[in-house]
Amino acid sequence: MRSTTLSLISLLPFMGHVLGSTACKPKSTESVSASITAPAVAAVATDGTELTPASGSATSSAINSEYTTAIDTGNDEPTMAPGTHSSFTFKQQDKENCDCGYKVSGLGDIYMPFKFQFNFSSIPDSAAFSGEDDLKEFGWRINQGHHVGGPSSNGTKWDGTKLIPENIYQCLGDPSSLSVKNGNLQLIVKGGQTPSDHMNCPEIIHNNETLYGIFQSEIQFSDVTGTCQAFWLNHTIAGQYADELDIEVLGGAINKPNDNQPNPGLWSTNWDPNGNPNDPLNLTRSSGANDNFLPTPFPNDPTKGFNTYTIAWVPGEYSPRYYNGQEVNSPTLYNAIHPQELTVNNWSNHVKGWSGEVPQEDSIMLVKSVLFYYRTEQFQSLPEGCKAEDVCIV
Ligand SMILES: *[C@@H]1O[C@H](CO)[C@@H](O)[C@H](O)[C@H]1NC(C)=O
Ligand SMILES: *[C@@H]1O[C@H](CO)[C@@H](O)[C@H](O)[C@H]1NC(C)=O
Ligand SMILES: *[C@@H]1O[C@H](CO)[C@@H](O)[C@H](O)[C@H]1NC(C)=O
Ligand SMILES: *[C@@H]1O[C@H](CO)[C@@H](O)[C@H](O)[C@H]1NC(C)=O
Ligand SMILES: *[C@@H]1O[C@H](CO)[C@@H](O)[C@H](O)[C@H]1NC(C)=O
Ligand SMILES: *[C@@H]1O[C@H](CO)[C@@H](O)[C@H](O)[C@H]1NC(C)=O
Repeated sequence: MRSTTLSLISLLPFMGHVLGSTACKPKSTESVSASITAPAVAAVATDGTELTPASGSATSSAINSEYTTAIDTGNDEPTMAPGTHSSFTFKQQDKENCDCGYKVSGLGDIYMPFKFQFNFSSIPDSAAFSGEDDLKEFGWRINQGHHVGGPSSNGTKWDGTKLIPENIYQCLGDPSSLSVKNGNLQLIVKGGQTPSDHMNCPEIIHNNETLYGIFQSEIQFSDVTGTCQAFWLNHTIAGQYADELDIEVLGGAINKPNDNQPNPGLWSTNWDPNGNPNDPLNLTRSSGANDNFLPTPFPNDPTKGFNTYTIAWVPGEYSPRYYNGQEVNSPTLYNAIHPQELTVNNWSNHVKGWSGEVPQEDSIMLVKSVLFYYRTEQFQSLPEGCKAEDVCIV
């Protein structure tokens, strides 16, 4: 029934420990800050409801620095630079048993210990979900009540002489905005919502913290105006970091410009890992080829069928993105360095210049399947007891 694969079975107890270290985060309040002038408020923002350094995050940071060192001094990591891997597809797996992990032949044989594959057709169609754990057994977490995407404002604006109040428009995670139909996950921003700071939007998260990986999905986007639809990686340590690697489109500005957005196409953005996540509307980021803040035009219409989107998050400066196996203009600054979870969402913040005004009709983004090969903080290289020839080639 399920098509989840996880190798290195014998090592799972250790993974449980790593995951546990950030699982428990104390609550705290936070004020969203800065102005909305930043045009591409992408997926970034801190969580409106749950935040700040966990007691566990000290442990996590220690692990981070340890592993950053391990990676820097590590074995022959392939170097990715713009143009060096201008096309990429996975090969058919060459062995049955892949307990020793995988090397990705299309990306310089980079080593990934784990695989996660999930086709939404492997579970029965489902009406609207009702809680965050509805797909937990399959390795997913549904966002319930936490921030989805970016807010429109920090609650005040400068009127030339003084700060005056300003509405905050944002989405909170709503399980009932997700469902499975005809074997595809539907992420629906319900049409006609009243702009507010608690609009309902769908977001689903791969429930495993990764540290590097190749993340691929077959997606059909919706061109209904008023949403940002994203396949992206988000950092896992709230209140401390702000890294993201994003692939995004803006409904209504996918194939052609609209009033919100003069540049149609596929946005590929990195957010400064050292940015202050408590100042989410004032974070440094970079987008597009040579960091030109432009999207890549689509060669076909991605709202008419499924296409393959890939984020190759690899060590170094550059993490290329691919559309149907062809590299798209990807930023060269701010590669992510902290653990990340792969996330898919669809949201509006009613902001001109980015999502645009909230949609007036349902817009349905579809996800057919995902295929991820990844590392974790703990497992970056071939485990002891495994020989290089045991590794599967993909
Ligand atoms: C934005 O952040 C920069 C530091 O990166 C800071 O100097 C500046 O004051 C901030 N702007 C606002 C409006 O908070
Ligand atoms: C909100 O943004 C305004 C700029 O529009 C800035 O002056 C103000 O300090 C920010 N408020 C907070 C709480 O960061
Ligand atoms: C990214 O994840 C962190 C940690 O869970 C969370 O606080 C933050 O709100 C997320 N970012 C977005 C844009 O959802
Ligand atoms: C899952 O989807 C992928 C991509 O569409 C396909 O190649 C693969 O055969 C599917 N696997 C299963 C078990 O359905
Ligand atoms: C995520 O990690 C946990 C703990 O190691 C493991 O039990 C689970 O199978 C993993 N899930 C996926 C989808 O890889
Ligand atoms: C996102 O929401 C909009 C508005 O409801 C919808 O038109 C679109 O199809 C959704 N996109 C996805 C990818 O589900």
